[in-house]
Amino acid sequence: MGDMRVAVIGGTGLVGRHTTKALRDAGHDVVVVARSTGVDLATGAGLDAELAGITAVIDVTNTAVPDAEAARELFGTTTGNLLAAEQRAGVGHHVVLSIVSVDRIAGNAHYAGKRRQEELVAGGPIPATILRATQFHEFAAMVVDWTQRGDVATVPPLLVQPVAASDVGQVLAEIATGPPQGRARDLAGPETQDLVDMARRTLAARGRSVRLAPSWRGGLFSVDMAGEVLLPGPDAQLAPTTFDTWLAGEAESTACHGRELDSADVRAEKRRCGRVHDVDRRGGSVGVGGG
Ligand SMILES: NC(=O)c1ccc[n+]([C@@H]2O[C@H](COP(=O)([O-])OP(=O)(O)OC[C@H]3O[C@@H](n4cnc5c(N)ncnc54)[C@H](OP(=O)(O)O)[C@@H]3O)[C@@H](O)[C@H]2O)c1
Repeated sequence: MGDMRVAVIGGTGLVGRHTTKALRDAGHDVVVVARSTGVDLATGAGLDAELAGITAVIDVTNTAVPDAEAARELFGTTTGNLLAAEQRAGVGHHVVLSIVSVDRIAGNAHYAGKRRQEELVAGGPIPATILRATQFHEFAAMVVDWTQRGDVATVPPLLVQPVAASDVGQVLAEIATGPPQGRARDLAGPETQDLVDMARRTLAARGRSVRLAPSWRGGLFSVDMAGEVLLPGPDAQLAPTTFDTWLAGEAESTACHGRELDSADVRAEKRRCGRVHDVDRRGGSVGVGGG
């Protein structure tokens, strides 16, 4: 069993909850930090108390900002406040989650903010590991939520190699409890996918009826994300959970949420649905146009 005390900043979020669970399952002590727990990285107020006795920090926060300059400013401020607090607390390892190919795409505001975050971490005072991951399996549904107007959502025909947020959480937990690596190997899922197809299948699994308009137009994505630019390189670490496996969990979860339990089979059903309900099916609430 582990014996470290790790702070997960953004630990209530999509990947943050998986990270927290992976750390706790390995026996580590976890401090979850988010605005909803009373600490806003934008001011840094309250961080010192949360970081007392912390060995490693994992930053999986997110921001919703409309343009590149605002994204750079916000990620700059939040990351600066966090690193300064870690220095005061004597934290020995800072881990941040970034996005594969973040340095190869110019026309995306979120990516501009993430590059600023990486710069500050790489040049900062705390020994660090930057992990870049590909898009999560939830990403297509997030894009639908960001772009839906009426019953139509605009989804760009991105070629991606999506990864399960649970697998990312597991890897982040392992990294944080080991030595700083600088840049870790990129992390991706096992198979390539077309984002429009992912969106269509996720909506069907969740029982939602939304018409999809495949397009690069709409403001969030630009054609510099076309082709193979979002795919991982040959050295990437490949996580095991396929999109199909994740999707099966979504469909099962929808079925469990969507109907009354049959009294003849109530116990088995409750067991099955109870397990499924633990699966995280929430899309990211913020992170416009992100990874
Ligand atoms: N989505 C993808 O496909 C993908 C792929 C690769 C990498 N990533 C990266 O993964 C990271 C996490 O993404 P996610 O989808 O898990 O995010 P998420 O679900 O939106 O969660 C964000 C977390 O950050 C917290 N947070 C936001 N602003 C904060 C602030 N100012 N101070 C303190 N806490 C704050 C949120 O809690 P409160 O709202 O309570 O503060 C929440 O716990 C992002 O940086 C993203 O770039 C995402």
